[in-house]
This record gives sequence, structure tokens and C-alpha cells, in this order.
Amino acid sequence: MELLKKKIVEEGVVLSDQVLKVDSFLNHQIDPSLMQEIGRAFANRFRESGVTKIVTIESSGIAPAVMAGLELGVPVIFARKRKSLTLQDDLYTEKVYSFTKKEESEVSVSRRLLSPIDRVLLIDDFLANGEAALAMARIVEQASANVAGIGIVIEKAFQNGNSKLKEKGYQVESLARIASLKSGFVEFID
Ligand code: G4P
Repeated sequence: MELLKKKIVEEGVVLSDQVLKVDSFLNHQIDPSLMQEIGRAFANRFRESGVTKIVTIESSGIAPAVMAGLELGVPVIFARKRKSLTLQDDLYTEKVYSFTKKEESEVSVSRRLLSPIDRVLLIDDFLANGEAALAMARIVEQASANVAGIGIVIEKAFQNGNSKLKEKGYQVESLARIASLKSGFVEFID
């Protein structure tokens, strides 16, 4: 997606060989018109996939997921990282290990929001090692529903998330694929 790549080049800050900061449009401040285009791009890629629901993880996945949900006309669920006052029982819960943060966390979705007839599009802001996407996919499996595909805003293709997800047979669509962040520069794949 050319508009997204342009935004990454203009506003992204390469913090290290591994980490790209995009706080000005995705992870802290949000650019609504860019997000609308991101939603359209996901919808175009998954329009024929029979999607009935979208699942993402709070917090940065929510904006792109909502825009995709608006385009596809389906509800959006965000898996919660902390148990809320109103969300305590009847949860599907999965562990997510972050290699970046070196910590394990849990994500949960209410059982009443997913059913076996659902075809679920998983959306996330970043794909690094794929652990967050795999945890969402396991939640969908727990509900005996199906994964319709996985949509990623920014993929760090030099990490192994994409191959782990494709090994499991999932269709992965990334709107910007980064080959390298070496020497402070963002290098894209195609
Ligand atoms: P993985 O799920 O693909 O294995 O990724 P990983 O554990 O490495 O990522 C943990 C968190 O860090 C996720 O956000 C992920 O989106 C984010 N992240 C990973 N690599 C980058 C990067 O290069 N730049 C930025 N900006 N974020 C990155 P999170 O902790 O769930 O945060 P949030 O969704 O609440 O913002």
C-alpha cells in the first residue's frame, strides 16, 4: 500500500535494527484518513473470504480493525489484555509470549462473542514473531470457528512471523512489508 509506505518513510523513526516507531499515525496518535484507506485495503483483500467477524488485540490493532469492519460490514472484537470488571467469566483465554518484550501475557475474549459459524479475520498493527496472531487464532479454534485470514498493517519480514503463520495454512496479507531496518533506513519488500 503506497500511501502507508510513504507515511512510514516520512514519519517512521527507526529506533534500532529491530524496532520501528510509528507513534504519529498508528501506535499513539492515529491518522483517521490513512486508517480509512487501511480499512479499505484489508476489505479489498478479504472481501471474498466470507468474513463474519474481525478479532484484534487492544490497543493498537483496534483502529485498523474498526475501519476494516466498517468496510466489510462486520463486528469487531478486541481481545482484552486485562480482565475487566464486566468481563470475568466465560472467557476464551490464551497466553502470548513477546520475544520483543521478553514477557508473557494473557489475552481474553468473551465466549458469547464467537460461535462455530464464524469466519474470523484477524487484524494486528505489527507482525514480528507472530505470537499475537497465533494466540488470536487459538482463541478462534477454541470457539470451533474458522480463521478467514490474517491482515497486518506493518510486517517486519526479517522476523519469522509470516512463515510461522503460513506454515499453519493461513492467508496473510500485509499492507507494508519491511525487509530491513539496518543503518537507520526502512527498506521495503516490493
Ligand atoms: P509478535 O506478536 O508478532 O510475536 O510481536 P512481539 O511480541 O514482538 O510484539 C509485542 C508488541 O510490540 C506488540 O504490541 C507489537 O505490535 C509491538 N511491536 C513489535 N515490533 C514493533 C515495532 O517494530 N514497532 C512498534 N511500534 N511496535 C512493535 P503491544 O505490546 O500489544 O502494544 P499495543 O498494541 O498496545 O500498542
